[in-house]
Amino acid sequence: MKKLAVPILLTLIFSVALIQFFEQVRLTPVLASSQGEAIDVLLRVVLILASVVFSLVISFFLYSLLSFRRRPGEPEEGPPMEGSTSLEIAWTVIPLFIVVGLSIYSARILFDITAPPNPEKELEVKVTGFQWAWTFEYPEYGITSPELVLPVNRSVLFRLHATDVIHSFYVPEFRLKMDAIPGIENLIRIRPTEKGTYKVRCAEMCGTGHAYMEAPVRVVDEAAFQEWVTKQAALAQVPAMAEAGEAAVPTLTAVEAGRQYAQQFGCLACHSVDGTRMVGPTWKGLFGHQVILEDGTTVTADETYLRNSIVDPAAQLVRGYPNVMPTTYKDQLTQEQIQAIIEYIKSLR
Ligand code: CUA
Repeated sequence: MKKLAVPILLTLIFSVALIQFFEQVRLTPVLASSQGEAIDVLLRVVLILASVVFSLVISFFLYSLLSFRRRPGEPEEGPPMEGSTSLEIAWTVIPLFIVVGLSIYSARILFDITAPPNPEKELEVKVTGFQWAWTFEYPEYGITSPELVLPVNRSVLFRLHATDVIHSFYVPEFRLKMDAIPGIENLIRIRPTEKGTYKVRCAEMCGTGHAYMEAPVRVVDEAAFQEWVTKQAALAQVPAMAEAGEAAVPTLTAVEAGRQYAQQFGCLACHSVDGTRMVGPTWKGLFGHQVILEDGTTVTADETYLRNSIVDPAAQLVRGYPNVMPTTYKDQLTQEQIQAIIEYIKSLR
């Protein structure tokens, strides 16, 4: 028994030190959802248990290494040892209780945070992930946006979809994560509690553009959200009016329609309009200028070049940029939509 005192004391010291360390260090970003509170508590519990188990193993290991080492003048091997039944029962039963306890605790948290928030009315957002961007549709308002804007303190039901491969919808500040799978609708509920700017990140390796598959998230107050909705809804009207043959507001012509399509189809997730370098070349000042291609040749960015780049992006790859643009736009976009996007690009001087 006396021999146990040292490793047990070491275990205590290491445990306290590790638990203190995990208390101090910030492992997660700011917490911005109501669902995340229980998850942070669970994470803390797991870290405390892991600290104790780790300290226990390391303390006994270090103690044995030093205490039972072969000393000078001891040429023989130590005496053979039989197993210890009580010890084996202990190291089977105790971890079993820990693991089963954690499972039950985690399952309860999962049920709690995925339950519908009756009778509160939820905001619905249809999320579509594709290689390599996100779009957010608000069916209630007829809006589609590359930016996720959410009102603070209102429960949001996300309907997750993917068009090509498996992606994963993850905003670290909200803590929850859910796969977006082609052909399946996955649901996830989040109630943002902190106003701020965050990012959606794709948490499933989905190809060469995976690391760039981000989208901005803005959590704003209810008034700012309604204002945003009104503005987006007005913009969404423009292409619809143009299609219906109605005379749109004169200043909001093909260029505005093109801007709306560029947003709706995810172009702006990869192409900036202000000169910022993103996954793809910026659109600012692109039209009419010389573009150096991967094979060293130079082309002028005229209408033909822009159209070809939309329908067959790999054919004329711009030097220094990865070949990651989806090849599906030739089927997704009508000729009029492509023309509108070209007009929009032309307008970005
Ligand atoms: Cu989509 Cu990774």
